[in-house]
Parts: sequence; structure tokens; C-alpha cells
Amino acid sequence: MEFVKSPLNYVGGKYKLLHQILPVFPSNINTFVDLFTGGCNVGINVHSKNIICNDIQTEVVDLMRYMKATSHKALVDEIESIIEEYGLSRSDLYGYEYYGVNSSKGLVSVNKSAFEDLRHEYNNDTNQHFNKNALFYTLVIFSFNNAIRFNENNQYNQSCNKRDFNKNLRKSLESFMLALEDKEIHFTNSDFRKFDFSNLTTEDFVYCDPPYFISDVAYNQSNHKWSEEDELDLFKALDVLNEKGIKFALSNVTKNKGKENNNLINWMKQYRVIDLNHSYKNSYFSSKDKSDSSTSEVLIVNYA
Ligand SMILES: C[S@@+](CC[C@H](N)C(=O)[O-])C[C@H]1O[C@@H](n2cnc3c(N)ncnc32)[C@H](O)[C@@H]1O
Repeated sequence: MEFVKSPLNYVGGKYKLLHQILPVFPSNINTFVDLFTGGCNVGINVHSKNIICNDIQTEVVDLMRYMKATSHKALVDEIESIIEEYGLSRSDLYGYEYYGVNSSKGLVSVNKSAFEDLRHEYNNDTNQHFNKNALFYTLVIFSFNNAIRFNENNQYNQSCNKRDFNKNLRKSLESFMLALEDKEIHFTNSDFRKFDFSNLTTEDFVYCDPPYFISDVAYNQSNHKWSEEDELDLFKALDVLNEKGIKFALSNVTKNKGKENNNLINWMKQYRVIDLNHSYKNSYFSSKDKSDSSTSEVLIVNYA
């Protein structure tokens, strides 16, 4: 089965694991909660009457809401106008040669300065011609690996990408927006501790894909660091759901680059643990240290 791919690229995004994760979810879910939705790879592919996608990052939630409320054509037109205003590249129209580069070198040298202008104006809120969400998404298109990164002062600080708004990204944006249009998805913007679980019943299901405590990737330099306290609070919140008979699944890693997550390993003993045997070895974000780059990816569930 083909899944819809998010047009946002998250470290730890679950697109490649969907074929392993989704079959484990209960059938006949009434309300599905994707508590740490990020790029929404899971929420967009789930079959459920109602879907709630939550994230702490306001800009991402606003962008998702905007994508849901806007037609695909209108957003693409807006992105292309922003590209034109800043003089960013259109390799889809002109190819790489036109810009004096090739595919392996990529477009950083062409777009760096215009990208930095766009990033500066986005951070300072000085471009009033365009919708802020469209500016943000254009920034993400021209960001390194399409990965979102804000610093501790909530200033967008990702660097420039080798690629631009190319065929693949256009395709995932289109299929994602069509799927959004079709689904009963509602977006919320809160810390998981403040999320309102009070309306959930035993027919509902909560999926959690938090930042991974022991992984070495971007989160620990970002505005929403994931601490041991966050991790323990999440375990408590999941235990409370379990006591209420509400089903959940938690994605995580027990081992990464030789480090073990002992809090997780102890906590998960009371639940069913499914080993997803995934390796991030070939990921853009994996460490250069090849000595022990294996990752033990698990899905922890509280039902048989
Ligand atoms: C690994 S990403 C989720 C990726 C997503 N499953 C996907 O496939 O695209 C984790 C997300 O958790 C969010 N997050 C971090 N701390 C949070 C918190 N305290 N409450 C809610 N969301 C949080 C981050 O903003 C990020 O989007």
C-alpha cells in the first residue's frame, strides 16, 4: 500500500516505518490522537473517524492548519510568487545548468543569499505581502533537507538547501494537501502535558512519537529540548491513559550509538514491546562514527 508522505522532513519522521507501525494500531478507532505530530506522517495515513494532531511548535501547527484551509493550487501559486520576489531558483523550469551548477553540487551557491534574506524577513516579520505560513513553508522548501529548525530564541536558523521546489517535493505537497482535504483532521498546539485527554474513551487511541531522549540529533540544539523530566512526565501521562483503559502506542529507541535509555527500558517492562529493527545508518542525520550506529527502534503498546 502506498502511503502519503509529509512535505516536511522531520528527524525521526515515521514515513518509512508506517508499514510496520500502522498494522499494529487497533482497528475501528473512534478518535485518533497523534500527540507529537511533527510532519504528520502518521496522522495523515491513519483510518479513524476523527483525527487530532498535536504539536508544541506553533509555526508547524499553523502551517498544517493553513494547508488544510487552502487549496493546493493557491498555495503553490503563493510559493511561486515568493520564490520570484526573492529571486530563488526554479530548477523545475530551467534545470541546473541554467544556474551554472549540477545536481551533485546543488543550488546552495545560487540560493544562499536570497534564502538568508527570506529567513531574515520571516524572523523579523517584515514581509507583509505574503501570508506568514506560506513564507514559512517556502523557507522550509529552501532549507537543508527540508528540515525545520528554530533556535532557543525561536528564531528560524536552518541553513540553505541543495534542492529547490522540485518535482518530488511538489508531488508530496500535492498528495498531502489532497489527503488533508479529505480527512476529518483537527490540529491542536500544546505541550503534551496540557493536552486535553478528558474526552477520550476506550474507543480512542493515542499515538506518541516524541523526540528521542538518547538520540544525538537536532532537538538538543533547538527551542524545544527534550529532557529526562519530559520523558518521565510522558511515561506518567501514558500510565494514566492505561489506567483509564485508553489504548496507546509509543515510538522510541532503547539503544542508539551504544547508549541505552534505561528509564525507558524499565518503564516499558509493564507493556508489550514490538521490535521494529530499524537502522538509521543511511540517514542524512546519522553520526559519522560508524563503530556502533545501530538503533533499536521499538513500538510500545498497552494492548494485546
Ligand atoms: C519526532 S517528531 C515527530 C515526527 C512525526 N511522527 C512524523 O513522522 O513527522 C517529534 C515532535 O514532537 C514535538 N514536541 C517536542 N516537545 C513536545 C512537547 N513537550 N509537547 C508536544 N510536542 C512536542 C516536536 O515539535 C516534534 O514535532
